[in-house]
Amino acid sequence: MKMTKKMGVLIAASCMMLFTAACGNSANTASSGTTAVPAGNTATTAPATPAAAKKITLGFAQVGAESGWRTANTKSIQDSAKDTGFDLKFSDAQQKQENQIKAIRTYIQQKVDVIAFSPVVESGWDTVLKEAKDAKIPVILTDRAVDSKDTSLYATFIGSDFVEEGKKAGKWLADKYKDTKEDVNIVELQGTTGSAPANDRKAGFAEEIKSNSHLKVIASQTGDFTRAKGKEVMQAFLKAHKDIDVLYAHNDDMALGAIQAIEAAGLKPGQDITIISVDAVKDGMTAAAEGKINFIVECNPLLGPQLMQAVNDVVAGKQIEKRIVTKEGVFTSEDAKKALPDRQY
Ligand code: AHR
Repeated sequence: MKMTKKMGVLIAASCMMLFTAACGNSANTASSGTTAVPAGNTATTAPATPAAAKKITLGFAQVGAESGWRTANTKSIQDSAKDTGFDLKFSDAQQKQENQIKAIRTYIQQKVDVIAFSPVVESGWDTVLKEAKDAKIPVILTDRAVDSKDTSLYATFIGSDFVEEGKKAGKWLADKYKDTKEDVNIVELQGTTGSAPANDRKAGFAEEIKSNSHLKVIASQTGDFTRAKGKEVMQAFLKAHKDIDVLYAHNDDMALGAIQAIEAAGLKPGQDITIISVDAVKDGMTAAAEGKINFIVECNPLLGPQLMQAVNDVVAGKQIEKRIVTKEGVFTSEDAKKALPDRQY
């Protein structure tokens, strides 16, 4: 009987599963159905593959290289694909949805075994996801979600709970100011407009602070998750408002850019303006340890091992959970000082 491509890939995937099981590699069991990526510093390893097995081809369409978080995420995916023995086709969309759609279409034409991507924005994916489905190529979402009603268009979504991240930020602030009798003026640096982390971190934060009418968001604008934009928008905020008490930045890079603007204005970040951010990458943690950021909510970028496991599972025809949530922590300045020496990214 003639061996079809799909049969070859399935045999290879089965071999990988057997090999992984035979090795008894417990670190590889961040499998579907669990919510098991340890936060921050405890990286899991990618599933191993025997040298003789036919390589699985994974097409990955990355958002871009907009932040320290993204750099760590890209490295995790590339390293894990290499460790697993997958043939990784990687593209960088430079934060543009049209580039990601083009890359996905190229992967469909190339008949890769699995497509994975981290959607720049939430909307507008149904057509291309349908094309992948028609071509019988499973799609895995990593890091960011899509808002498609038809959830059969993707196999699983692996990543953080961004609403929860926003809530953690809001809760810390609400606790800090629980006894205040005066208004607290908050400025917000949002992530990329229309992206899941920007939408959800904003919503989660607003939800937590709404019970205290003194906590007022007086300005909120996108800084596109970049340091340069964070600095530029913070400069504008400082010009327009003389009485800023708190900055809530949707990621560390924007907070770090804003810190430059705050210092240039002769103010002390972390003292004159309380700063909260999300990610906990090394540069952000360093600023926290120096007291310039007061509170960081962790967003773990090390999604590579979980992605490779999910790829193995879908190729092997296993049923996998529709949602795999990453576990994450939070850091005050004191926590950041302690955690920094072991921080991987
Ligand atoms: O989607 C995750 C977000 O994207 C990170 O918080 C941010 O730094 C990145 O650019």
